Amino acid sequence: MKINVVTLFPDMITNISEYGIVRRAKEKEIISLDTTNPRDFTSDNYKKVDDRPYGGGPGMVMKYEPLKKAINSAKSNLTDNSHVILLSPQGVKYDQKIARRLSTLSDIILVSGRYEGIDQRLIDKHIDEEISLGDYILSGGEIAAMSVIDSIVRLLPGSLGDNESSKDESFEDGLLEYPHYTRPEMVDGMKCPEILLSGNHKAIKQWRKKQSMISTSRNRPDLLKKFSKE
Ligand SMILES: C[S@@+](CC[C@H](N)C(=O)[O-])C[C@H]1O[C@@H](n2cnc3c(N)ncnc32)[C@H](O)[C@@H]1O
Repeated sequence: MKINVVTLFPDMITNISEYGIVRRAKEKEIISLDTTNPRDFTSDNYKKVDDRPYGGGPGMVMKYEPLKKAINSAKSNLTDNSHVILLSPQGVKYDQKIARRLSTLSDIILVSGRYEGIDQRLIDKHIDEEISLGDYILSGGEIAAMSVIDSIVRLLPGSLGDNESSKDESFEDGLLEYPHYTRPEMVDGMKCPEILLSGNHKAIKQWRKKQSMISTSRNRPDLLKKFSKE
């Protein structure tokens, strides 16, 4: 998969390719991760990428032209199928289902906004999909883009190590994951649940399923409702 992030702060994005699973995926050439800076596509001496909003109001708005040129430049290094996503609090709320869908695409461009947002005409003409991380406001789309990248990359075949699996994780079966324990058996007076030491794989599987139900009903009853309908 080829990923290109359109951003005014490319270093934020390149940073994530130096750690963990994203780094491994890049080294194994499962992904390529590049950035395109709209500031490189300005035509004035000040390299101006933002301007005051028409109609007044606080803050600045990212201008159409530098963003359009940056997206087109990113596209020129990708196939014709590239999918352009804007990170925006006004987008559809991101979840594991969307991550799975995006992980099947070959070329993705993630556009990170800054300031008050971006000129609506850019969204209307050049954006295929808007994704929100949740109902809160970030200062810029980079952290959202990083979340999307990380969650997609771990779904790509070969990016997780032999001992890792994305199949068991929270949301994969519509529920939160069961709790984990590791050595030592006893810590600060708390013992690891006996069943996990029993070697009885069937019983462990049942226990984990039950724990998964309990934590989902406690923390995310909305998921449990969906789960029982499916
Ligand atoms: C300060 S925000 C702009 C918020 C905008 N004025 C609004 O009220 O909807 C600047 C940029 O951060 C990114 N952003 C902020 N919150 C986000 C969220 N919840 N999900 C995804 N991106 C977000 C978007 O790219 C946005 O253009």
